[in-house]
Amino acid sequence: MQSIIGVIKHNLLQAIQAAVPVTEPIIVTPAAAKFKTDFISPIALAIFNKHKKEGCFGFKNPQELAQAISSHITQNEVIQSIEVAGNGFLNIHIQPEYLASLIHSISASGKLQVNLNVERQKVLVDFSSPNIAKEMHVGHLRSTIIGDAICRCLEFLGHEVLRTNHLGDWGTQFGMLLTYLNDTYPDWETNAPDISDLETFYKAAKGRFDQEPEFKERSRLKVVDLQGGEENAIKAWKYIYKVSRDYLQIIYDRLDIKIEDCGESFYNPMLPGITQELVEKGFAVQSEGALCFHVPGFELPLMVQKSDGGYGYDSTDLAAAKYRLLDLGVKRAIYVTDMGQNPHFLTIFEAAKLIGWHRPPETRMDHAGFGVVLGEDGKKFKTRSGESVKLITLLDEAHSRAKEQLLKRSNEPEIGQQTHLNPSDFENAAEAIGVSAIKYYDLKQNRISTYEFSFDRMLDPRGNTAVYLIYAYARICSILDKAGQEAVSAALGSPCILTASQERALALWICRFPDTLETVIEELSLNKLCDLIYEVTTKFSEFYSNCKVIGSPEQASRLQLCLATKFMLLESFTLLGIKPLERI
Ligand code: ARG
Repeated sequence: MQSIIGVIKHNLLQAIQAAVPVTEPIIVTPAAAKFKTDFISPIALAIFNKHKKEGCFGFKNPQELAQAISSHITQNEVIQSIEVAGNGFLNIHIQPEYLASLIHSISASGKLQVNLNVERQKVLVDFSSPNIAKEMHVGHLRSTIIGDAICRCLEFLGHEVLRTNHLGDWGTQFGMLLTYLNDTYPDWETNAPDISDLETFYKAAKGRFDQEPEFKERSRLKVVDLQGGEENAIKAWKYIYKVSRDYLQIIYDRLDIKIEDCGESFYNPMLPGITQELVEKGFAVQSEGALCFHVPGFELPLMVQKSDGGYGYDSTDLAAAKYRLLDLGVKRAIYVTDMGQNPHFLTIFEAAKLIGWHRPPETRMDHAGFGVVLGEDGKKFKTRSGESVKLITLLDEAHSRAKEQLLKRSNEPEIGQQTHLNPSDFENAAEAIGVSAIKYYDLKQNRISTYEFSFDRMLDPRGNTAVYLIYAYARICSILDKAGQEAVSAALGSPCILTASQERALALWICRFPDTLETVIEELSLNKLCDLIYEVTTKFSEFYSNCKVIGSPEQASRLQLCLATKFMLLESFTLLGIKPLERI
C-alpha cells in the first residue's frame, strides 16, 4: 500500500508546475463527509494569495487558477476526477477500481504491506523509565503505553528501533536506601529480607534520612562509596535494583511490553569526561561553585556538575545524548515523558546541537510530552489517602470490571446464546479487554492534553473504547465464520467490485492506513491511528447494516471487504498494543 495523499501530491505538483512557475508546499487532506468528495486541497488559494500583489500570472481569482491546475491532471490509476469548488478548493475523487484493487490485495495477502518510501533509520525511543525503588506511577504508565506504541509503529515501517528504559537507578537516594538496608537488615546477604513492598522501604528510609542528621551523613558517604564503585555498596545496590526490577517486570509482562534497560547508572563512568569536554569547549562555566551550561534561549542553565562534585539528571541526559547520537549512531531519538519535563529536554536538545553531537536535519531529537492523568474529581490522580495509585491495582481493577461485564453479557438471553467463551476463557478475555481498555483510552487522547482516568468510560462498550472495537472485531470474525472457509476462499478468487456508497466509504477509510501511519510517526500522535480505526469500525457497521453480505449476488466482493477490514483492524490493534479476540 502506498500513501494515497502522496500520489495526489505528486500529481498536483506536476499540474501546478505546468500551470504556474512556482513551487509551494502542497496540502491535501481527507474531506469531511459533508463535502461529498474524498480529498481536498487548498493549494490554488495558497498560491493565489501569495502572488496576488504581482497579478498572480494573469489569474483573476483562485477558482481560475484551480481550474488551470486541474486541467493539467489527466485521469489516472488513482485519481478519477478533480473539480473546483466554489471557494477555489480542489475536490479530488479517487478511482473506485483503485480502492477495490487495494481491498482485493489486502484480503488476499492477509496483511497490510505499507511502502512509504522512507529511508530506514536507527531510532531510539526512551520510554517508561521509572525510578528504581519507587512505585511506578500513572505518569510512567502513560510513558510506557505511548512509548511502546511508537516503537511498534516504527518497527512496522521497517526502522531499527532501540527500546530504551532510562531507569532512575542512580543518584543520591541510593545512599539513603543502602544505609537503611545495612542498618535494618545487617544480614541481608545471607538472609534476604522481603522488601518486595519497596515503597514502604523507601518511605522508611526517607523518614530516617529526613530526621536523623547522623543517618543523613552516613547516607552521603555511602553515595561516595557507590559512585566510586566500592564492592559492598555495589552489591547492595544490585540487590535493591533486582528486587525493584523484578516487580517492574510483572507490570511489563501484563502490558506486553518489551524494553531494554539502560539506566542512569550506565552513564556514570562517562560523566567526568563529558564535564571535561564541556569545560574545554567553553560551554560549562563556574557558577556559585557548580559547573553550569547556559544554553541561549533557555531560562534555566543545565547543571553539568553540582557544587559538591556530584552529578544529576542534567549531567546524565547530556551523556545519554552524546552516547546515543555518536556511539550508537542513532538518527532520531524520541523521549517520552510528561510535559513538565519539556523545558529540560528542549534545553538538552539545543545543548547537544551547540556542542555538535546533534546535527539536524541529519539527526532528529523529539520530546513526545504528554499531559498528566487526573482523577475523576479533576485533580491529580491519587488514592483517597493521597498516595500515588499502584499500577498493579489499576490493572487488577480493569481486569475484574471487564470480567464482570463479560459475565453480565453472557447472561443476557439474546447475547448469551452467541457467547462463544467457555468459563476458562473468561479470565484471558477479561485480561485482554481490561489491559486494552486502559491502553486505548490513553492512546486515543491528544497526547499533550490531560485526561481523567475513568474505568466507566474506558470500559463503555458503546463509546470509542477498546471494548467497542474488540466486540466489533469479533463480530467481523463471526461473519466470516458464518460464511464458511469455502465461501471465503472462493471470494478471494474473484475480483473485487465496489458499488454501494457504504462499500466505497469503508474501502476509502481502510486505504488511509499508510497516510495515517505517516502522520503518526511524524507527529507522534497515536490518537490519529485510534481515530482511523474507530472510523473504519463505524463505517463497517454502516456497510453491514445496509449491504447484505452472505447469500447476496455481491457476496464475493463483500466478503473481501470484511476480510480487509479484519486485517486492517488486526494490524492496527497490534500497533497500539491491543489484544484482539476472535470470539467473545
Ligand atoms: N526517570 C525519569 C522520571 O521518572 C524519566 C526519565 C526519562 N528519560 C530521560 N532520558 N531523562 O521522571
